Amino acid sequence: MHTFDFYNPVGIHFGENSISKLTHELEKFGPNVLLTYGGGSIKRNGIYQAVLDSLKAARKNVFELSGIMANPRTEKVYEGIRMCRDHAIDFILAVGGGSVIDCSKFIAVGAKLDGDFWETLLIKQESMGEALPLGVVLTLAATGSEMNATCVITHWQKHLKLAYEHDLLYPKFSILDPIYTYSVSKSQMVFGCVDILSHIFEVYFSAPDTSNVSDDIAEALMKNVMENLAVALNNPRDYTARSNIMWASSMALNGLLGLGKEQDWMGHQIEHALSAFYDVPHGAGLAVVHPVYLKYICQKVPKKFVRYAQHIWHLDRSGKTEEAIALESVEKTRAYFKSIGAPITLQEVGIPAEAINEMAATVHPFPTSYAHLTQEDVKHILQQCLE
Ligand code: NZQ
Ligand code: ZN
Repeated sequence: MHTFDFYNPVGIHFGENSISKLTHELEKFGPNVLLTYGGGSIKRNGIYQAVLDSLKAARKNVFELSGIMANPRTEKVYEGIRMCRDHAIDFILAVGGGSVIDCSKFIAVGAKLDGDFWETLLIKQESMGEALPLGVVLTLAATGSEMNATCVITHWQKHLKLAYEHDLLYPKFSILDPIYTYSVSKSQMVFGCVDILSHIFEVYFSAPDTSNVSDDIAEALMKNVMENLAVALNNPRDYTARSNIMWASSMALNGLLGLGKEQDWMGHQIEHALSAFYDVPHGAGLAVVHPVYLKYICQKVPKKFVRYAQHIWHLDRSGKTEEAIALESVEKTRAYFKSIGAPITLQEVGIPAEAINEMAATVHPFPTSYAHLTQEDVKHILQQCLE
């Protein structure tokens, strides 16, 4: 294990009817609440009413920012910042998946910033001083945003999707009721699970590769997600499966898994270009890109992929070189994504070959444990995503 520091202050209320804890949580904050949500799923599945009841019981003045789109865009952040200033907002309550939570985190910091949030935080990468407090009611298991301090936003005109992280952006609390995810469509559930697996890959496939508890936890999480996705695809209302997937999403990106590891994140870096140009759902883009990226690095560290092949896919090693078994494990991963209904080629997510150069030009590769890609490598990886 490498040296590490760890901090995660997010209070979690997990389980059926954990919304009953919301009123008490809200009482800790000021009277004016900005309630943020997406395109309307929470009105159809009853979550909106349950949240409003809690807000009413806590005697809050509620202002609503609705219509936060998947792959949230800067425009929605500006709208939220204006509302915070106009209504002297004390607290933001984000009800949704990663897009609603991320957009709300940017609003929380943007409302307290003198300058423009995009220029200050994402382009100049200056630090921030304060943020409005934020709480979460999670409705989709995928990103881990409910338990981390990261947020991702798209500037559509510039076709850039960029991430920001700051300790002040940890939610004060997150309410995780697995029943709230029953209404998530099968495709979104699949994309969510691909995202969870991808977060695990980004950590697992990095140094150190000697015995470490993080890699062991990563393998347990991978198996758990695959097993429970199979159950939930068959029966979307299986509480055990949905609860496992929900906690796995938080576990995969709440910081714990990466402790003592270098981590990679090139799979995510490349995927962000797909979403920034073609508005591809994040998990769908990862299903296309990540196995191809793993294929690129697997020959550099075949031993690690042999471990993956044996522990996750139970592949037979006899008579095969390490390189061959490493490659087979990556092919298994891609075939698995296809088998659960995820797209695995650029065509399937509506991206033509001609777009590759433009997308690759916005990816800035950084050195990772196993490789230091050039932009030519990124182009090459994207070309391999065509087949
Ligand atoms: O908008 P509504 O109507 O609510 O519909 C949403 C949306 O269309 C729907 N949905 C959510 N909960 C539902 C539901 N439908 C029925 N029943 C429910 N209970 O699902 C659709 C997708 O929602 P979205 O929030 O976009 O999905 P996800 O949670 O996958 O978030 C994706 C965003 O998070 C970013 C991604 O890049 C992307 O922008 N990420 C954030 C990270 C972080 N903050 O740490 C890390 C990730 O790697 C990722 O980059
Ligand atoms: Zn992700």
